[in-house]
Amino acid sequence: MPARLVVLVSGTGSTLQALLDAAADPSYGAIVAAVGADREGIDGLPRAERAGVPTFVCRLGDHVDRAAWDLALAAECARFRPDLVVSAGFMKLAGPAFLHRFGGRFVNSHPALLPSFPGVHGPRDALAHGAKVSGCTLFLVDDGVDTGPIVAQRAVDVLDDDDERTLHDRIKVAERSMLVDVVGRMMREGYRVNGRRVTIP
Ligand code: GAR
Repeated sequence: MPARLVVLVSGTGSTLQALLDAAADPSYGAIVAAVGADREGIDGLPRAERAGVPTFVCRLGDHVDRAAWDLALAAECARFRPDLVVSAGFMKLAGPAFLHRFGGRFVNSHPALLPSFPGVHGPRDALAHGAKVSGCTLFLVDDGVDTGPIVAQRAVDVLDDDDERTLHDRIKVAERSMLVDVVGRMMREGYRVNGRRVTIP
């Protein structure tokens, strides 16, 4: 049986697309069981629909508070029985209820080499700092902001004439390949977490 992924998105969904394309091959060992978004009208949702993958939208504004939204998001994901939840450009922080349910099997892809440049502007912050190398990080989500145990990283050179867009676009190329490669291996081979050290046998 292939492993089941639920992918969470907030925007363009190019990272999601890479997973959808990879998972279309049975040898990948995982399927995208559902795609969840925090709002309607984003490009990630039609990508899922074109691939025949069920979608759901869980809007913060439709809930009385953040805790209720967090519970609802966890319940929506749980309906699809994921082995792994993948945040692929999901721009909201999951809360305690979500982490209670999915802690240890919830990964996020971030466009910087953590622990440098956490938050929502990884490429912009790396440029502003004058970093010569940035990249992307896949990590297990914990209750901090981009602080969880690191699963994989890829380095990307910062070029002298880069702006936020060109740097982020190059990082996203590395990010798509990292995510497809590493999530596939995690699902086919399993992974171990020992404190902050994550290993895939
Ligand atoms: C990706 O670069 C992802 O790392 C970033 O959003 C982009 C989504 O692109 N996420 C964050 O910055 C989270 N802090 P996409 O919508 O084209 O997949």
